[in-house]
Amino acid sequence: MSNESQNKNSKFGLYMAMGVGAVAVGFSIAAIPFLTPALRTHALPYVPATTKQIDNVFKAVQKFSTSKNISKLQPSKQNVVKLVDLGSGDGRIVFDAAKRGFHATGVELNAMLYLYSKFKTLTSWKTDANLFKPVFRRANFWNINMGEYDLIIVFGVQGMMRDLASKLKEEMKPDCLIVSCRFPISSYKSIYRLEDELDGVWLYDKECLNNLIEEEKKPESKQPQDDDDDDD
Ligand SMILES: C[S@@+](CC[C@H](N)C(=O)[O-])C[C@H]1O[C@@H](n2cnc3c(N)ncnc32)[C@H](O)[C@@H]1O
Repeated sequence: MSNESQNKNSKFGLYMAMGVGAVAVGFSIAAIPFLTPALRTHALPYVPATTKQIDNVFKAVQKFSTSKNISKLQPSKQNVVKLVDLGSGDGRIVFDAAKRGFHATGVELNAMLYLYSKFKTLTSWKTDANLFKPVFRRANFWNINMGEYDLIIVFGVQGMMRDLASKLKEEMKPDCLIVSCRFPISSYKSIYRLEDELDGVWLYDKECLNNLIEEEKKPESKQPQDDDDDDD
């Protein structure tokens, strides 16, 4: 083999190695936001909600508000219902909520997912005078005050629900509702639940979260356990 073709081959090998290295570094950087949740006090990984789960969120809110004659949770331009999804992932719940007329905000810590949601808003959200454009914030939801929202959606993990409930109870508006997807808030009795295996959802209001504090104050009282009873 001539010197010239040897040189060409070694340059090709070098470029290949650099290319493979760059791709590997790129993947590693992209993976960081998905791996770091495991290091936090409340590890909450990215698991997207199923279509059924999203439908169940709004079905449960609709059924509960209709049964209690609460029109406040039916969004319209005249009745602005502010919703937040805590850990909004790729924004699917927020987009669905916005299409249903809610003033919907997603709070997401993962930079890639946040940027994806923003990108999707720019590229696929069609402006409609009757709808509010979805809003995305890159933030840690533990550091956000929940006082402005009417509906708080959370698809969390069992281990964080109790601490989250304590935070929400302090900050939520008196008439705000919490929708917990897949996992109930352990120890609190929900005001409504829609059972559907992994796609089940539970509803809580401020009063039912406060009730547990009252229960805890009574030393002899038996605390309610994970939604043993029917809530309808
Ligand atoms: C189980 S996924 C739910 C995603 C979305 N809500 C859905 O239902 O498709 C939880 C999301 O919360 C995000 N997350 C975890 N901890 C967070 C925190 N402290 N603040 C904001 N987002 C967080 C994760 O990055 C992940 O995208």
